[in-house]
Amino acid sequence: MSIRPIHHTFGPHVSRKYALHADRLLLSPWTWNNTKHTNELRNELEKQFSASAHLFGSGREALLALLRSLRFEQGSEIIIQGYTCVALPNAIHTAGYTPVYADIDLQTLNMDPNAIQGRISSRTRAIICQHTFGIPADTERLSHLCAQHNIVLIEDCAHMLPDAQGPGTVGKYGEYVLLSFGRDKAISGVLGGAILSRNDGTSALLRQEESNAHTLAIHTVFRALLYPALYHKGRMTYGLFGIGKILLFLAGKLRLLLPVLSASEKQGDMPPHVHKMPPPCAALVRAELSRLGEINAHRRALTQYYARYADTQRWKILPHLTKLPLQKFPLFVQHADDIRAALKKYNIYLDDSWTGAVVCPRTVHQESTNYLSGSCPHAERVAREILTLPTHPTMTQKQADSLLHHLTSLLA
Ligand SMILES: Cc1ncc(COP(=O)(O)O)c(C=O)c1O
Repeated sequence: MSIRPIHHTFGPHVSRKYALHADRLLLSPWTWNNTKHTNELRNELEKQFSASAHLFGSGREALLALLRSLRFEQGSEIIIQGYTCVALPNAIHTAGYTPVYADIDLQTLNMDPNAIQGRISSRTRAIICQHTFGIPADTERLSHLCAQHNIVLIEDCAHMLPDAQGPGTVGKYGEYVLLSFGRDKAISGVLGGAILSRNDGTSALLRQEESNAHTLAIHTVFRALLYPALYHKGRMTYGLFGIGKILLFLAGKLRLLLPVLSASEKQGDMPPHVHKMPPPCAALVRAELSRLGEINAHRRALTQYYARYADTQRWKILPHLTKLPLQKFPLFVQHADDIRAALKKYNIYLDDSWTGAVVCPRTVHQESTNYLSGSCPHAERVAREILTLPTHPTMTQKQADSLLHHLTSLLA
């Protein structure tokens, strides 16, 4: 049994280097208002994506700021895919629009361009396409479709940040690109998000949103920076009389850890105000961006390893994954919940919140998301059968071997 847990959300980016950096930031609170790192991050993103960059407190806030800046008439429809995160319909509702769900392609887990045709109405103003788990969506085809219908294409790159090795199509066709720097995303600052805009008029409005954004409370920034410290120390001492486990349990009880989603967000409510990205979180993102090639190489190596192994076992996987730096590796099994439950006794936790519901996580009040049960059958099937394997920066080869070993006996 693995001593340290194999877990999707156990400080997935928090290596020793990452934790030391966060510790230094945590211990120098007088620098927390110094915008040098946010300005530098903005410049770096602008250069990488050839677009103007606007930074906020999270991906969902960045999306809300964009949707407001687009100034569509109230009640406009925004098409999103089934099998998505509740952050999307919440931001759409808060901006005064209506989310409409299109089904996914079972070969990519991304929006199926054929399914969109039936969803476009005279009120449709935008499509948000997601690169689910880092699998590239067919943005070229989607951008043609958008041009035909005079609607806006927003690319959601929360799960994938391309590097020099590609994939070259990701982040290229959208008039707007959404990034998230949440703790389990492509790269992480614990908190933060961005919109990249290729439209000068909207960029001007986004700049206003950014300068009017609230500053996050000091205790929130403190808790964000505490996350790497707690998870790193928790991981190091996990096998030592369970100290790490107790530490994280206590941190949870004392509310020292920020929740990823609040209880009201799970009920479909999102506050209308947005926040500035905290400079120390921007500093963490910049460090991650500078080693994006390394992070993605690690993800590519694990993706390839899982894909090859899955082939030998004839597990059900998606085609054409081997060269991708996946955020996590999907396979499809009967009784996925039972397998996840059985893996826990080996200290393996594969519940990543992307299971059991079309609008994730499954604890979301589905009725408030505007999703009509049965309207995206592919998405419903994927939510039932999916089992994802971690590829994050702190997932080791040894852990991957242990995971595959236990999975093989359970699936035999
Ligand atoms: C596909 C996708 N887009 C956007 C978001 C929102 O990002 P954030 O958590 O930074 O608000 C998420 C969040 O989990 C996501 O999975």
